Amino acid sequence: MKFGHFDDVNREYVITTPRTPYPWINYLGTQGFFSLISNTAGGYCFYKDARLRRITRYRYNNVPIDMGGRYFYINDNGTIWNPGWSPVKTELDSYECRHGMGYTIITGKKNNLKAEVTFFVPQNYDGEVQQVVLTNEDSSPKTFKFWSFAEWCLWDAQDDCTNFQRNFSTGRVEIKDSTIYHKTEYRDRRNHFAFYTVNDKIDGYDTDRDTFIGLYNGFHNPQAVLDGKCGNSLADGWSPIASHYKEITLAAGESKTLVFVLGYVEMPQDKKFESDGKTINKEKALAMIDKFNSPEKVAEGMKELRAYWDKLLGILNVNTPEDKVNRMVNIWNQYQCMVTFNLSRSASYFESGIGRGMGFRDSNQDILGFVHQIPDRARERLIDIASTQLPDGGCYHQYQPLTKKGNADIGGDFSDDPLWMILSVSAYIKETGDWSILDAKVPYDNDESKAKTMLDHLTVSFYHIVKNLGPHGLPLAMRADWNDCINLSCFSDTPGESFQTYTNPKFKKEGGYSKVAESVFVAALFTYVGPNFVGILNHLGKKGEAKKAQAEIDKMKKVMMASAWDGNWFMRAYDANGQKMGSKECEEGQIFIEPQGFAIMSDIDEDAAKKTLASIDERLNTQHGLVLNNPAFSKYYIQYGEISTYPGGYKENAGIFTHNNAWIICAAAYAGQGDQAFKYYSEIAPAFTEETSDLHKTEPYVYGQMIGGKDAGSDIGQTGKNFGQGKNSWLTGTAAWNMVAISQYILGIMPDFDGLKVDPSIPSQWDGFTATRKFRGATYRITIKNPNHVCKGVKSLVVDGKEIDGCVVPYVEGKIEVEVVVTLG
Ligand code: BGC
Ligand code: NOJ
Repeated sequence: MKFGHFDDVNREYVITTPRTPYPWINYLGTQGFFSLISNTAGGYCFYKDARLRRITRYRYNNVPIDMGGRYFYINDNGTIWNPGWSPVKTELDSYECRHGMGYTIITGKKNNLKAEVTFFVPQNYDGEVQQVVLTNEDSSPKTFKFWSFAEWCLWDAQDDCTNFQRNFSTGRVEIKDSTIYHKTEYRDRRNHFAFYTVNDKIDGYDTDRDTFIGLYNGFHNPQAVLDGKCGNSLADGWSPIASHYKEITLAAGESKTLVFVLGYVEMPQDKKFESDGKTINKEKALAMIDKFNSPEKVAEGMKELRAYWDKLLGILNVNTPEDKVNRMVNIWNQYQCMVTFNLSRSASYFESGIGRGMGFRDSNQDILGFVHQIPDRARERLIDIASTQLPDGGCYHQYQPLTKKGNADIGGDFSDDPLWMILSVSAYIKETGDWSILDAKVPYDNDESKAKTMLDHLTVSFYHIVKNLGPHGLPLAMRADWNDCINLSCFSDTPGESFQTYTNPKFKKEGGYSKVAESVFVAALFTYVGPNFVGILNHLGKKGEAKKAQAEIDKMKKVMMASAWDGNWFMRAYDANGQKMGSKECEEGQIFIEPQGFAIMSDIDEDAAKKTLASIDERLNTQHGLVLNNPAFSKYYIQYGEISTYPGGYKENAGIFTHNNAWIICAAAYAGQGDQAFKYYSEIAPAFTEETSDLHKTEPYVYGQMIGGKDAGSDIGQTGKNFGQGKNSWLTGTAAWNMVAISQYILGIMPDFDGLKVDPSIPSQWDGFTATRKFRGATYRITIKNPNHVCKGVKSLVVDGKEIDGCVVPYVEGKIEVEVVVTLG
């Protein structure tokens, strides 16, 4: 069942009922000011940091779901409704929500009154603009009452929902004309405030929540709206809100447009107040208000926003025989990659914004998905991340976006972390040809005095693996690898211990983790990523060092075949007791997805690769994607940790963890199995789940972290329950990796050090496809022909009319147009 449809021309998803199977959200803002907005206008906004600068309040996991947002209320002679249906939930005569690139338009109609609300965060602007167009579609005049509503968060989102003994006595506001200012703590230790304004005269306001809503009422029946008036209340402590009130009369057919702005302002310490030392200095706020105080200015802001996305999405554009692929690649997957880059894992409808900082491995992988769109910001991000690395190549697992410092509470020793940096820096160089990043001086541990070149960072990253091998010569698993839930040094039997950070005293003298537990995943990642490091060294003419590194890679491949090959797939690990994990010898968890893809793409052994792909198809694949492991764990394995705490079929315990599905898609494509690759791709690609949105639940335009696996429900004897049900949408490494899988491995347009590689691995039934790719200053117009209906194999590559060998279009400086024709066969 569908709950809307794609509008590809406008790059929108059009939701046609407010009762989606879960709130379907969108993100507004790309720089400092961000908003989350659901299809019923729920959500919140914040400035840069969803925890420390939360601007409006939101209630996670509330009943009913999705409570708190920017709401407009209409009282039309006793009929009370919201344009976005919620929270009053009066049945509308018509409803539509269009989620677009950085904007959302919600339109509701009731009793011939239409309200169309456009929400967006303009470029270079710290505020959310909300344009409300009210139209009387009746044949006689209409007089009705209209309210806006936003509830302020007292800045620190965590404190805001815990520390009530203090918070109920700190809230402060100020009102001037049609603007309500939120200035809690502004007098003392903060230099920032927020405001909510409208470009018209108002007939009243409320800023005290209890006056507006009523202590025993809710968002769905605010007392002021029921009574058809407002209280002109001034908040002093308790919960400050902002609500404008207006009485409106519209002639038959008449429209009225109101422009609201919810803004955030920071002031220099010495300019915070007017001369009385009390009143907010509103200079900056007024300038902001002035920028968006008319429909014309709003239209201009929307135009700029569209131009911004035209530019970003104009870099890669494909035209394949499959519409769903086109809309994923050209629009939604790229959009999700940008949002994920901007927010890391901080704020979604599943991430509360008060949890994690920026993940070292997450942020590096995010680069892979968006580096072609904004290489400058990728470079800046790479330097930020690398600056948190430790001199020995180890990494803080997370860093804080505000301070950009490594987070000592979480610490390090995640065995895979350093490798992702080699991959992301390589991706950056391949995209841009900017080798100078390797010479950039980058601190270790944020200490400028310890700064060395980026190349040095890559070198210590590579050797951090080499220097931390276990008894079989495989990399030590340490605290965890990519799978945070395989905690081989944890042995936790006490509630509340964090599987990720707990150090078992058992391993105290070893430095916090087992020197026996080894990760086959890190081994495979090493052999996959390592050649990039060798490629860099060769390019720099450091032949000796390149040879030395290559020897380590070759050695690791041998070790993998000798000690990690299980006969039909690669094992997952050796645990701290030296026992095999992810082997046919195990009772449960015999096969794991994570090491397989990278092992296949490392060309370790052709026969092993074939057998592995067959085993994956047989043991892990389902109609909704590939499960992480099989069979699911049905009991707690203290030696494995968190993975066995989840009921079978969820998350890392045999859930369809879509991030790692991409590695198999890449590997199948790499191995020439384009049909298989495409099958796996389409099992999880959101546009392909649209028809089954009732089951899938989450947005059909973006990936989620997880889909219930075939074992979901097994814990309660209802195997198959929730199989196919998505969770944790939006902020996930799945976005970046699936972008890589479809664009670089299936469609085969892959930046390389020396040029643009074009080597597709597509469904055999396709006749071909075309693509436009901007790359290092040139526009490549690519045509792929598949007359013999093969999956893979470049029979000829013609560049600007000349046939050349291989499948890399060499980079030629100064060229701005390149015509590429590839014939498969
Ligand atoms: C989750 C993982 C996550 C980890 C770190 C675990 O509880 O299952 O998916 O990576 O926490 O936040
Ligand atoms: C989510 C985390 O953000 C990511 O770092 C990790 O790799 C996966 N979960 C798998 O556990």
